[in-house]
Amino acid sequence: MKQLTLTSRKSFCGILFSAAMMLTAMPVSGQTFTEWHDLNVNEVNRYPVHTEVLPSTSEKISLEGTWKFKGVMNADERPTNFFNTNFDDSSWGTMPVPGCWEFNGFGEPIYVNVGFGWRGHFQNNPPNVPVKDNHVGSYRKTVSVPASWKGKQVIIHFGSVTSNIYLWVNGKYVGYSEDAKIAAEFDITKFVKPGDNLIAFQVFRWCDGSYDEDQDFWRLSGVSRSSYLYTKNPKKQITDIRITQSLTDDYKDGVLTVNVKTKGGSNITYSLKDASGKEVANVVGKGEETVIKLANAKQWSAETPYLYTLTATQDGGEVVTQKVGFRRVEIKNAQLLVNGQPIYIKGANRHELDPDGGYVVSRERMLEDIRLMKQLNVNAVRTCHYPDDPVWYELCDEYGIYVCAEANQESHGFGYGDEGKRMAPLFHEQIMMRNRNNVSTKFNHPSIIIWSLGNETCMSDNFLDAYKWIKSQDLSRPVQYEQARTGEGTDIFCPMYYSQYSCEEYSKKESSVKPLIECEYAHAMGNSGGGFKEYWDLVRKYPKFQGGFIWDFVDQGIRDKRDKTKFLYGGDYNDYDGSDNNFNCNGFITSDRKVTPQGYEYGYYYQNIWTEAKDLSNGVVSVKNENFFRPLDYVNLKWTLTSNGVKVKEGIITDLNIQPQQSKDITIPFSGEGMEQQGEIILTLSYVMKQDEPMLKAGQEIAHQQLVINSYDYAAEIAAKAGCDVVSPTLKAPCELPFTLRPSFWRGMTDNDFGAGLQRKLKAWNNPQMDCLSRTVEGCKVVEKYRINAVHADFSLTYTSVADNVWKIEESITFDADAKDVTNMPRFGVVILLPYDMDKSTWYGRGPIENYSDRKMSQNIGIWSATADEQFWPYVRPQETGSKCDIRWWQQTNASKSQCLEVFSDDSFSACALHYEVRDLDEAAKKQRHPQDIKLSYYTNLYVDQQMAGVGGVDSWSGMAEALKPYRVEAKNRTFTFYVKCKK
Ligand code: GAL
Ligand code: MG
Repeated sequence: MKQLTLTSRKSFCGILFSAAMMLTAMPVSGQTFTEWHDLNVNEVNRYPVHTEVLPSTSEKISLEGTWKFKGVMNADERPTNFFNTNFDDSSWGTMPVPGCWEFNGFGEPIYVNVGFGWRGHFQNNPPNVPVKDNHVGSYRKTVSVPASWKGKQVIIHFGSVTSNIYLWVNGKYVGYSEDAKIAAEFDITKFVKPGDNLIAFQVFRWCDGSYDEDQDFWRLSGVSRSSYLYTKNPKKQITDIRITQSLTDDYKDGVLTVNVKTKGGSNITYSLKDASGKEVANVVGKGEETVIKLANAKQWSAETPYLYTLTATQDGGEVVTQKVGFRRVEIKNAQLLVNGQPIYIKGANRHELDPDGGYVVSRERMLEDIRLMKQLNVNAVRTCHYPDDPVWYELCDEYGIYVCAEANQESHGFGYGDEGKRMAPLFHEQIMMRNRNNVSTKFNHPSIIIWSLGNETCMSDNFLDAYKWIKSQDLSRPVQYEQARTGEGTDIFCPMYYSQYSCEEYSKKESSVKPLIECEYAHAMGNSGGGFKEYWDLVRKYPKFQGGFIWDFVDQGIRDKRDKTKFLYGGDYNDYDGSDNNFNCNGFITSDRKVTPQGYEYGYYYQNIWTEAKDLSNGVVSVKNENFFRPLDYVNLKWTLTSNGVKVKEGIITDLNIQPQQSKDITIPFSGEGMEQQGEIILTLSYVMKQDEPMLKAGQEIAHQQLVINSYDYAAEIAAKAGCDVVSPTLKAPCELPFTLRPSFWRGMTDNDFGAGLQRKLKAWNNPQMDCLSRTVEGCKVVEKYRINAVHADFSLTYTSVADNVWKIEESITFDADAKDVTNMPRFGVVILLPYDMDKSTWYGRGPIENYSDRKMSQNIGIWSATADEQFWPYVRPQETGSKCDIRWWQQTNASKSQCLEVFSDDSFSACALHYEVRDLDEAAKKQRHPQDIKLSYYTNLYVDQQMAGVGGVDSWSGMAEALKPYRVEAKNRTFTFYVKCKK
């Protein structure tokens, strides 16, 4: 199909259906068996795409369950007569529908990021795809059709088949289709009969469409969504219905523009009902287009997902019921507006992946994902990089999630250079089709506020044409494409992994005319999530910068069938297939749907309620409702006042009632009490749900913050804890420490550390040789001096026994005056080896979840406890974990508390206790490791750091993977002073 010019919305049906006619009008004699490697044939006899709503007058027969199945490893071994009715399939195995082959005993999952599933074994050469290793699955099943279906139109629907499908019914060829993420539908009316029918289909692991499906995810095959037969009224039917949902220019009244394609008469009665079921409009439509207005309509937004129900009843024909929401999406003054408001996109990219089912994701799993999004204040999702299960959009409509709906298009393997440009002309129709399929099926969802043309495919006219085509169909939504940058073909500037610096540069420029919403940012791989504060400070500062979609929502680990606690990643299945290892485990939710440590931080900066100190000594704070639509009448504010971590007073405020985007001064009535207490005084504010809502429970916290009223007095606390004047000790106690203490500079390299190449760049700090120069004992003081040539520095450890069982420890490093090129260090501190069962930690500092200098604000300062095992977070690939920062004191005990060690310092520090040693958390030479593979230490390793490097979080493959400058541990002369107290 050639370029379509921009036309008014009125004529969309004409274009849609003439395109479909062209395709269905092609002569269909029989399969040529070249379709699977022919770029010009992407569908044969496919039933024209339409919005996904099924008429309530339709009847349905499920195709789900067990099918007879034969899988062959190479495409040229596939059976070619299996669809005949007399074929004997008694020797065949079975396969569930839905069900991915690789999860059901046929073939193994492949994970490659870029470069197509056949990477390493086949030279890209479109339209050709491999024959070898191109698994082919053939399916057969007898399906009984009731006599009452005689005379009805019968459509067969396969929700999603990867990578393609050939279909035969009762021995006759029906058709073919590609685009694995849109239902493959065929009109089989003339092939079916009452009684038993043989349905047979064949699926290739790879077809020419695979060149458009090079997404960074598990490459799986088979049928993965709901599949069924359904009937339509052959004479009188609503063939398609598109409903544009908007508001009048003054944002007051709702407007529905309904466009229908019908057979047998377009007299349709539209009845609109509100959420209580009351009819609010009733209009008789006579043509293809009907406009329905509703004065003062309740508006849909992610905050207020109010849905109406529109029922279209065709005179003597079909009845279609569709949920609709009134909202208006526009771009004005370089801002994306919903209902006139410059909303924030607190987004995430979400792949459809289930650890036990692969592409087969249940409705329960989707609900769980929405619940997690609501818990973490995520309000927007990008369907990376393909259309999702229809149920997903319904849930987003219902529960309120903005959707950036992406077409099933990624040809990353061709790159953006010469090859990419050379390939572009070959793929025009594929890219157009994939965009037509996306828009034509998902059109009716109010949650969709942006269309996306695809991902990581070289920019070309193909995308300009797809952009224009969407504009010819739908002027109610912006269109985006990352590779169009700030040019033509995108309404939004949606770069990926733009640094905080670049975002600011763009946002402050007068000449920037498109809103900036990063289509991917904050690469959450492994121990990541740093620098998110810096992004959101900018979003909240610059009107043009409206947020982004975190990469990404859920780790794509596959649960090991033998060890259910273990999640497999690329390379775990075999050495033959291409692999990009754990690069698809970038979630802030684990494969089995737990919030990861960085997930809490994203949830914190995504929160919608912010508190600022006003006149703290009198308890006055200013509370901002960052919602754009919803008044703050649904939360209670629970406050707690602590003194050195111990609660001294608490209360609850139940009448906040703050209008959207407004702030209000609130007085917290702590009336002086607590304020007279000694020590650090912190006010902790927790905003909790008043009542149960569909995805949130009464009492559940949705925002929190801490305000410090009185700072911690380190010197006073040291004096109190040591029970003596630690500055000039008078006691002469034994000098020797009752435990082993070692300097510690290295950490288990994180995915971001590897991405930034820190395992090489910083390697001088990896267990460097330390030459002991001297050890002197003077009274109650031991001084050990070392030389570390690798980093051109002198190093010393000084232990002073300052009181009975209290030691002051000074760890000092001094670089040579002429030392050059000494790199930053991963950490500067010590590790104390304690008995294995002295593994109970209690600390006053940030917790309870691990936190790092650049990812800490979600973790409150308080007194927390955890065992060493609890402090280990099982990143899919083991790496640095467990650290906590802003520690005031740390205590380690055994269960009975008969042994106790306490650490405190003259400044805040970082610490953690683990049953692992750094060298075992570090990958070193051995790859493909899992938490289950790491060796347990003989000790409880108590790590005490003056400073631990931040974790970074822009991307995981460039210099930007390293923490921002302020969060690095600079190699400068430094002394870490801390105290260790042992209880006998
Ligand atoms: C992006 C891409 C994603 C994913 C990510 C890295 O470039 O669009 O699909 O590959 O990088 O995790
Ligand atoms: Mg990619």
